[in-house]
Amino acid sequence: MVRFVKQLEGITPYVAGAPIELVSRRYGLDAEKVIKLASNESPLPPFPEVLEVITRKFNDLNRYPDSECRDLKAALAERHGVTTDELVVGNGSCELLIWLSLIVLEPGTEAVFSDPTFLVYEEATCARGAAPVKVPLMGFANDLNSLAAAVTDRTRIVFLTNPHNPTGSYLPYSDIAAFAAGIPEDCLLVLDEAYNEYAEQPDSQDGLKLARERANVVVLRTFSKIYGLCGLRVGYGISSRQVKEAIDKVRQPFNVNMLAQAAALKALSLEDRLRERRAQNRAGRRQLYDGLAALGIGYVETQSNFMLVDVSGLSTPADDVPEELMKRGVIVRPGRPLACPGYVRVSVGTGEENRIFLERLAELNNG
Ligand SMILES: Cc1ncc(COP(=O)(O)O)c(C=O)c1O
Repeated sequence: MVRFVKQLEGITPYVAGAPIELVSRRYGLDAEKVIKLASNESPLPPFPEVLEVITRKFNDLNRYPDSECRDLKAALAERHGVTTDELVVGNGSCELLIWLSLIVLEPGTEAVFSDPTFLVYEEATCARGAAPVKVPLMGFANDLNSLAAAVTDRTRIVFLTNPHNPTGSYLPYSDIAAFAAGIPEDCLLVLDEAYNEYAEQPDSQDGLKLARERANVVVLRTFSKIYGLCGLRVGYGISSRQVKEAIDKVRQPFNVNMLAQAAALKALSLEDRLRERRAQNRAGRRQLYDGLAALGIGYVETQSNFMLVDVSGLSTPADDVPEELMKRGVIVRPGRPLACPGYVRVSVGTGEENRIFLERLAELNNG
């Protein structure tokens, strides 16, 4: 019997949204007609220019990618007004979360984060044998006062998501700046901004200022969401040079694949097109709000590309709703494993996808 490290005992493996192929096979549905609204993905494919760049790279796949992601880092440095020594690029921002845990957590230390939040924080914490300290949300928002009160001299990392997953709530950066000022300098504050590009508030870029001003603040961004590249896995962090150097000691070489680097670089050059995507997401949100209100179904207002829908009052029991929707060809994320029982989390889809979701949900409301 293999002797595994003790900390594995406390870890529940991450359960991702069901893939379309699996649902189509399980329920005998035409895969073309199955709609996935479960993983906060963009419903739109990558930009055509990005696809073209990826195709051109196919012939180079016998070579390792640039282990330092030089071109991508140079473009990111210019975009965000930092130096390439203040940037780390990962195989998705999830990889960055794991590295950050690796460089500061060990048994006897603590990580502070909200509950509920993105499940990877707890997994990464427990994998290091450190203790998770979970702070309930206030309503649906991160409770900065209680998070600050939970920080002790054992805390080595605080994870904060804005906009928040799974609720879609948004905190003003003036509040986050005040919170950051109270975090000890030897403790990392990770501002996970995976959904930043969907937020429309005028202060939405102010997290970057904090990362530039404070050596213990790291901002995480990703190409997985609005850029529509989650299938390639590429995210990045803006940090102090010390944090970047610590990460360089633990990351595997060539961690970001060649297609991902090329695609991200191209996508970054098409920044002005994000405006259309934001507008499309805004219209989709409005469609869902209006449709749910017409059905008498509650929801949580969101600043992101997903939202919590209150399915506790439907004639179908809340915990059965995800499965019943799946049978009808719509994949959503069950709320219970996200610590949101009574809700499902739904990505904002295309207009047609949103319409079908609302239609199928209405069927569950009629018994
Ligand atoms: C809050 C949050 N952070 C990070 C990620 C990971 O994104 P990536 O695809 O860049 O690993 C997600 C993905 O859903 C997320 O919700």
